[in-house]
Amino acid sequence: MAKYNIAVIEGDGIGPEVMEQALNVLGALGGEADWLSVEKLPWNSRYYLEHGRMMPEGWKEQLQRFDAILFGAIGDARVPDDVSVWELIMPIRKEFRQYVNFRPVRSLPGIRSPLADGEDIEFAIFRENAEGEYSDSGGRMFRGEPAELAIQNTVMTRAGIERITRAAGDYARRHGKTKLTSATKSNAVVHANKLWDEQVARTVRTDYPELELESVYVDALAAYFVQRPQSFEVVVASNLFGDILSDLGSGITGGLGLSPSANINPEKDFPSMFEPVHGSAPDIAGKGIANPIAQIWSAALMLDHLGEAEKGKKIVRAIEQVLAEGKVKTADIGGDATTAEMGQAILDKLAALPEKG
Ligand code: NAI
Ligand code: MG
Repeated sequence: MAKYNIAVIEGDGIGPEVMEQALNVLGALGGEADWLSVEKLPWNSRYYLEHGRMMPEGWKEQLQRFDAILFGAIGDARVPDDVSVWELIMPIRKEFRQYVNFRPVRSLPGIRSPLADGEDIEFAIFRENAEGEYSDSGGRMFRGEPAELAIQNTVMTRAGIERITRAAGDYARRHGKTKLTSATKSNAVVHANKLWDEQVARTVRTDYPELELESVYVDALAAYFVQRPQSFEVVVASNLFGDILSDLGSGITGGLGLSPSANINPEKDFPSMFEPVHGSAPDIAGKGIANPIAQIWSAALMLDHLGEAEKGKKIVRAIEQVLAEGKVKTADIGGDATTAEMGQAILDKLAALPEKG
């Protein structure tokens, strides 16, 4: 047995293309022989077309043996998006209690923000990842008739709100942050979001009294992300709000090709899952031009989580050096390098980094 056993789900579209580069980077990191073993699981839309399901029965037992899951992206025109999301991503996040979706947002060297004043942005989004608006509670009636209706229920619990707030609060404390921003819409969504406001405030007051709590309506917050992104330190948001805000965070700092994320079960009762914020990007899939940085960075977040922070930092340093130098850039960040060329540039920088520090 290796020290760390990783399940890899490459998924669809650009998933396998960017994953190849992430695995090269992991493979190039030093360590005792056999420190990392990787097993690929072929669960994607092709698997669905062959087997009628995204993952086999018994997927949970199979995945549970691993220390972590490295995931690419899922989504293919031949399979409805709600099927790929609800039969693969959602069951893993929910069944494995990955209730924290951590998404760092930061300015990177050599990457120009689309904002006029878009420098020195650095904050983290803690998105609630196991309940909230992404619930399959609800239903439809009178299908196909003019009276057709749909009901979609949001599920928010005290315990769920408290634990995501605590994850954000712990992070703030560890990183010497002073302010927590909560995204809400309790002026309009009066049941679920009032509970959200109350429980976030209660948790901060009792457990993180040193933190300043700023509660902002999510629509205004979207504008503030653009107008004063430097004012945020840690943002806590529900599943839907956090999903939208993190793409916005990604947009103001250089785009989806650069943004990693982690789906974490803090108690470590189950494996956590690491994946880029982006999807399968069908518009560029198969061309070999996707930016692999979000995927490689997600692998670095995985190493942090496994307790290999030094290795994780090395990867991030190599990425920053490549970007700062600006010689190798994929199309999304204004260049013409291929996925493989970007991967190789990062490998070269890694090889040149000192063994320690
Ligand atoms: P997307 O993130 O796949 O693409 C949005 C835009 O960003 C596209 O123009 C794409 O070319 C570009 N882009 C994304 N990643 C890139 C990269 N690494 N390098 C360069 N450019 C990149 O989102 P979209 O188009 O809304 O969804 C496409 C499919 O992905 C759908 O089937 C959707 O359901 C699925 N999806 C899956 C996710 C996941 O697996 N976690 C997350 C989001 C979407
Ligand atoms: Mg998203």
